[in-house]
Amino acid sequence: MARDFSSLKQLDTPVKVLFTGYLSTVAVGYLMALIQILFTHGMADGKFGLSIDDIVYSYYGNRSGSVIETQLNGSMKENASEQERFLIMQWVRDGADQADYAKSGVQAVIEKRCVMCHNKESSIPNFTDFNVIKELAQEDKGATFSSLTRVSHIHLFGISFIFMFVGLIFSFAETSTTKYKSIAIGMPYVFLLFDILSWWLTKLHPMFAWLVILAGAGMGVSFLFMWTVSILEMWAFDKVFLNTEGEHHPKWSEIVEGKFKQWGGEDAFNKGLAFGKQAAVSSWNQALPLLKAWYHKLKG
Ligand code: HEC
Repeated sequence: MARDFSSLKQLDTPVKVLFTGYLSTVAVGYLMALIQILFTHGMADGKFGLSIDDIVYSYYGNRSGSVIETQLNGSMKENASEQERFLIMQWVRDGADQADYAKSGVQAVIEKRCVMCHNKESSIPNFTDFNVIKELAQEDKGATFSSLTRVSHIHLFGISFIFMFVGLIFSFAETSTTKYKSIAIGMPYVFLLFDILSWWLTKLHPMFAWLVILAGAGMGVSFLFMWTVSILEMWAFDKVFLNTEGEHHPKWSEIVEGKFKQWGGEDAFNKGLAFGKQAAVSSWNQALPLLKAWYHKLKG
C-alpha cells in the first residue's frame, strides 16, 4: 500500500535510536509506577497484590476503622510487632484519649517504632504532635479532596505528555489500518480521563472501584500495543511482519476485524450503539423537565 509518510522502518537510524531511547525509558518509568502502585495501594488491605478492596480503602476509605488501623494492617505492618500494633489499635478503638496516651504505653511504642520516619523533618504525618495522631485515629475517609486534586492534575499533565510522544511515534507505524491506529492512539486519553474520574467517583461510592482497575488496564494495554508495534517495526520489520517470500503477513487488525465480523460482532456493536443512543436521548428527555424545575426553584 502506498503511503505518503515515512514509516517507522524507513526512518534514519539516529531517529530510530532517539525513539527507542524514549520508549525504553518511558517503559521503565511505567514499570516503576506499577511497582509503586503495588507497594502503596496494593498493600492497603494488608495483603500483597492489587484488589478491589485496596482501591476502595485508598479512595473511599475503610469506614469501619481509622487510618492508623488501616495502615497498621497494611503498608505499616512491618514497622511494629503484633503486640505493639494491637496496643495501638486498642487505644484507638477506645477513643484515642490523650489521658491514656502515655499511660497505656502507646506513646512509647510510637516513639520507638514510628517517630524515626514520622517526624517534623519528613513530609509524612509528624507523630511527635499528638493532634496529628488523634486526627489519624478518626474514621478513615480515604483520599482527601486536596490530595485527589493534586494527584489528578499531576496525572493529567504527566500522562498526557507520555502518550503524546508514544502516540506520535506509533502514528508512523504501517502495519495497522488507519482506523485501528486512530483507536489505539485515542484510547489512552479516554482511559486517562476515565481513570481520574473513577478516583473521584470511588471517593463518593466504593462501587466505582472496578472502574479504576478497568481504566488503568485499558491504558496499560494501549501503551503495550503501541510500544511493541513501534519497536518491532523499527528494528525487526522483515522478521516479524514479512514471511519468507518477503510478502506481508495479514495485518493483525484485519485478522481481528475479520473474526469480529465472522462472529456477528459488528451487528451486535451497531445494535449496542443504536441502543445506547436511544437510551441517552430518552434519559435526557426525562432529565430535562427535572433540570428545568430545579432551575426555576433555584431562581424563585
Ligand atoms: C521506615 C519509615 C517508616 C516507619 C518506621 C513508619 N512509617 Fe508510617 N509511613 C511512612 C511513609 C513513607 C508513609 C507514606 C507513604 C505510605 O502511605 O506508604 C507512611 C504513612 C503512614 C500513615 C498514613 C498517613 C496518611 O496520612 O495517610 C500512617 C497512619 C502511618 N504511616 C503510621 C505509622 C505507624 C503507626 C508507625 C509505627 C508503628 C509507622 N507508620 C512507622 C514511613 C514509615
